[in-house]
Amino acid sequence: MNSNYMQKKLIIKNKKLKTSIIIKKNYISKFVNNIAKNNEKVFCILDKKVKIDLNIGKQKNLKIISIKCGEKVKTFDGYKDLTQRLIKNNINRKSVIIAIGGGTLGDLAGFAASTVLRGLDFFLIPTTLLSQVDSSIGGKNGINTNYGKNLIGTFNQPKQVLIDISVLNSLPKKEIRSGYAEIIKHALIKDYSFFCWLEKNASKLLNLNKSFLEKAIYKSIMIKLFYVKKDEKEFLINNNSRAMLNFGHTIGHAVESHYDYKKFNHGEAISIGMITEAKISNYLGILSSNELEKIIKHFKKYGLKIYDNIINDKKLIDRLIKDKKNFQNNINFSLIKNIGSSIFYSKLDKNKVYKILQKLK
Ligand SMILES: NC(=O)c1ccc[n+]([C@@H]2O[C@H](COP(=O)([O-])OP(=O)(O)OC[C@H]3O[C@@H](n4cnc5c(N)ncnc54)[C@H](O)[C@@H]3O)[C@@H](O)[C@H]2O)c1
Ligand SMILES: [Zn+2]
Repeated sequence: MNSNYMQKKLIIKNKKLKTSIIIKKNYISKFVNNIAKNNEKVFCILDKKVKIDLNIGKQKNLKIISIKCGEKVKTFDGYKDLTQRLIKNNINRKSVIIAIGGGTLGDLAGFAASTVLRGLDFFLIPTTLLSQVDSSIGGKNGINTNYGKNLIGTFNQPKQVLIDISVLNSLPKKEIRSGYAEIIKHALIKDYSFFCWLEKNASKLLNLNKSFLEKAIYKSIMIKLFYVKKDEKEFLINNNSRAMLNFGHTIGHAVESHYDYKKFNHGEAISIGMITEAKISNYLGILSSNELEKIIKHFKKYGLKIYDNIINDKKLIDRLIKDKKNFQNNINFSLIKNIGSSIFYSKLDKNKVYKILQKLK
């Protein structure tokens, strides 16, 4: 891949999904102002930590609602607060919503946008690396319940997504690494040459080198879109299923919810999940020990988490059973066959999973 290929503005249009993704630097305020010019009323839902000047002097029809973000905002209470603020500020059928923030804000605002007044047009401006490479793509939104993550939500594609990497400068390193975890996930499930490219260039990307970063974001988006286009609503039960994107997440979701989202951020939890699920792949004879070692080496080199004590604990199994993707006592996994190819695996019952996890370190 050539690292200087990125153009000034890249638009990925998708007719089937009725959405388009724009990749462009230093473009947020122009993008927001254009939407304000073309719509009667615009609600900007903004993550409090995102410091951007929207330059909205002339746009009297633009209302900003700031929210303190994080996993705790993706709750019934967070949803209630946000929708009530929208209604109190006279949102109507001609209003549109722009969500500017990380994955938690995008998931919450996307859910609000698809339910308030039975659904309004919305635009997404993801401001974390994780949301730029993953959560802003594919139209899933939602909130968590006490019984598990993302159990309430809809499929609803944003009209447009703007990916602007200039907003990442204020993002803590820990959050950059969290986004990198989803990038490496995309490579591991679908693209061996992308994995090799990441092996060479990960440090440039983690240091926010613009052209490397934009290329990794672009590659990630294309891999995610491949699955979303084939299986938007996650109906398929085969290797093209959208569920393949859940590699690392069966375990990862259980780990993060066990710690009440306090000990690990999403990327850290799914890093532990990916290594655990790669070890399960290896235990089942699906992934070779050589390739497993190669994956672990990469994770260690770039400071991604690989293990936590909860992995061998019975409590984790109880969490896994609550996952909406698991039925009865069978736990579904997206497993790795080789680096760059994955398979859907639904044959493991909870006792077998527990037995395997007991043996992993
Ligand atoms: N809908 C989907 O398809 C999908 C896919 C993957 C993940 N997700 C969800 O995404 C969420 C994780 O998203 P996230 O990692 O972006 O977390 P997040 O939204 O909590 O953001 C992480 C932290 O960074 C802050 N932040 C955001 N932008 C910033 C910026 N530019 N500068 C400084 N700080 C900034 C936030 O306030 C927060 O404290 C999880 O809830 C996960 O379930 C959804
Ligand atoms: Zn994820």
